[in-house]
Amino acid sequence: MLFPSYSNILLAGIFDPFFPPPSSTTATSVDNLFYFILWVSVFFFAIIVGVMGLFLVRYRQRSGIQPQPSPSHNNLLEISWSVLPGLILAVIFFWGFTDFLDMRRAPDNAYEIQVVAKKWNWSFKYPNGHVDNNLHVPVDKPVRLVMSSDDVIHSLYVPAFRLKMDVVPGKYTSTWFEATTTGDFVLFCAEYCGTQHSSMLAKVVVHPSGEFEPWLENAANFLEDLTPAEGGKILYTRRGCVQCHSVVENAAPMTGPTFYGSFGTSQTLADGSSIIVDENYIRESILEPQAKVRAGYKPVMPTYQGQLKNEEIDALIAFIKSLSGEETAQ
Ligand code: CUA
Repeated sequence: MLFPSYSNILLAGIFDPFFPPPSSTTATSVDNLFYFILWVSVFFFAIIVGVMGLFLVRYRQRSGIQPQPSPSHNNLLEISWSVLPGLILAVIFFWGFTDFLDMRRAPDNAYEIQVVAKKWNWSFKYPNGHVDNNLHVPVDKPVRLVMSSDDVIHSLYVPAFRLKMDVVPGKYTSTWFEATTTGDFVLFCAEYCGTQHSSMLAKVVVHPSGEFEPWLENAANFLEDLTPAEGGKILYTRRGCVQCHSVVENAAPMTGPTFYGSFGTSQTLADGSSIIVDENYIRESILEPQAKVRAGYKPVMPTYQGQLKNEEIDALIAFIKSLSGEETAQ
């Protein structure tokens, strides 16, 4: 941070309702530069428009007063209105550039989390293999995100951290942050990516010191203490099925077919043939979603090949079965 946070003190209050409180180590310096540019703009806007208004009145056409020839030029005025904005631009550039470098370079000891964006959910993969639809991090520790997209360009955006980075198919992008406040924050997709772009949300959960590691340990083994159907219900939300598949009776149409009452039924496919929704069909649809698309639905589901363990697929099947009142083998 190049400059102290005096501007923040000056402006706190006026803009607070518009911004979430800064909750990362770099958020305050982003705010300070924003406020500096804002107030420089407000200052010059007031001067220029003020003088313009004053001259409009003072030099208006009046009877009995003849127009005077204007002076050809004024060296002092012309040099100062070139040099002064140049100096202000230089300050903004160096200030912005140093903050930008701080935000681009993750500290060497940063904790690394893999991020995969796809239409329309986020998944966060931790070093122990656990995958979650929300981003869990420890407080006061630098976290580096290595991000890729399975389909189109998405953008990871956490307003409270003043953090935004595009997630692009076919390459990795990365960003980092260090959360300074515990609690829940909203993570948005900030790049229009299709019909459900606006619901492509996740939660950032910043754990108090010492509570992140136990959470991760627990989360990775959560299936152990649950029945398959209970585990499947959690996976349904956590792994993003919830974005496109409803699980209640008479739900509004969604991107994908409803899970409610679907197990064991006969359904028509896009090519006109029919299929019984059984364990093998569900498994195939998770791993190879385009193989047998139901009539009336677009082939937009991303594959979960390599992203769900066998026991997790079993749990999802058990959950879908339970929505048809089927007994599940324990
Ligand atoms: Cu993903 Cu918008």
